[in-house]
Amino acid sequence: MSHIFVTGGAGYIGSHTVVELLNADFDVTIFDNLCNSSRVVLERIQKITGKTPDFVEGDIRDSAALAAAFARKPVDAVIHFAGLKAVGESIEQPLEYYDNNVSGSIVLCETMQAAGIRKIIFSSSATVYGESASVPYKEDMPLGRASNPYGASKAMIERMLSDLCDSDGRWSVAALRYFNPVGAHKSGLIGEDPKGVPNNLMPFISRVAVGKLPELAIFGQDYDTPDGTCLRDYLHVSDLADGHRRALPALEKPGFQVYNLGTGRGYSVIEMVQAFERVAGRPVPHRFAPRRDGDLPAVWANADKAKTELGWSADTSLETMMEDTWRWQSANPDGYPQF
Ligand code: NAD
Ligand code: UFG
Repeated sequence: MSHIFVTGGAGYIGSHTVVELLNADFDVTIFDNLCNSSRVVLERIQKITGKTPDFVEGDIRDSAALAAAFARKPVDAVIHFAGLKAVGESIEQPLEYYDNNVSGSIVLCETMQAAGIRKIIFSSSATVYGESASVPYKEDMPLGRASNPYGASKAMIERMLSDLCDSDGRWSVAALRYFNPVGAHKSGLIGEDPKGVPNNLMPFISRVAVGKLPELAIFGQDYDTPDGTCLRDYLHVSDLADGHRRALPALEKPGFQVYNLGTGRGYSVIEMVQAFERVAGRPVPHRFAPRRDGDLPAVWANADKAKTELGWSADTSLETMMEDTWRWQSANPDGYPQF
């Protein structure tokens, strides 16, 4: 396998995966409509790797644009990151989310099929396990009912991909269920750059620390957890990127496969704040606030399958996750430059 086509490759996880692929000497084409990312990412990837990925600005719902991009040079596999990901926004704009994520994935697979490309890695999420699964989550657990359209869109796409594999033995699909990616590339050149007020904990903490937001609200302090705040399985985004490279050989085998990508342990919100404060050497002002709707008390992975079958594990320490987040945020207090 040499040429990998990366939808959403200018985004947070996509850009780190593109770096990983270029460093491992893959040829890469990024296909992204830049609705949640910046063109500056391309220069930063070049700075880190010394290589320039091909870039096509386009939307995965545009079959003609995809077909034209596939026709440029033979594609061995697709890594599919493109999609919308804000849980709250998905509740307000469900059609937008189903259109972008579900319809977009259908158009992508149809266009791949027409071009004779049948290998795909899909960005799924721990959210597909639903509200009643018990931790640690394991791949063979049944999927639960998603509490929001974003989660439902991920479960629908997994189902669609699985049905596709059942219908045609030439398809190979790996659905990677991510837990909570945090951190940034060690260079500080690429990282997470959410538009507006961040929904997620880590970018919120780092924007408070850099003085762009006044304080962090910790959602809930009365959960049945050791310190009363929620537990999540945070993994370094570069480890997650490495998981995609290691999943590529699994596509040599046809069929639908699922892997959890997490560390296998949970940290609380308070532990995250304290670890960040230690590393950055500055306080992160915070207060306790009511629980956020839809939050589960504790989520972490059983990541044994990825270790056994892909030879992958997420080993970067919490301290390094924090150092790398802080390096990125302090070097880019306003995120990527806007033009
Ligand atoms: P991101 O928003 O940074 O990256 C997504 C990229 O896709 C962006 O560059 C955006 O411009 C592009 N995009 C969106 N819709 C598109 C479309 N219709 N056509 C072409 N490009 C489009 O998000 P991320 O954090 O890098 O997440 C990548 C994937 O991983 C998403 O599918 C997300 O749902 C999934 N995921 C993320 C997390 C997380 O915590 N970040 C957790 C689980 C799963
Ligand atoms: N949190 C706060 N304050 C904030 C933001 C978050 O206290 O300002 C807390 C949340 O309540 C939660 C923890 O920090 O306890 C982590 O929250 P995130 O929003 O960072 O992450 P989630 O686990 O809620 O959500 C992530 C992804 C979703 C995905 C979900 C399940 O962002 O896309 O995991 O896989 F659906």
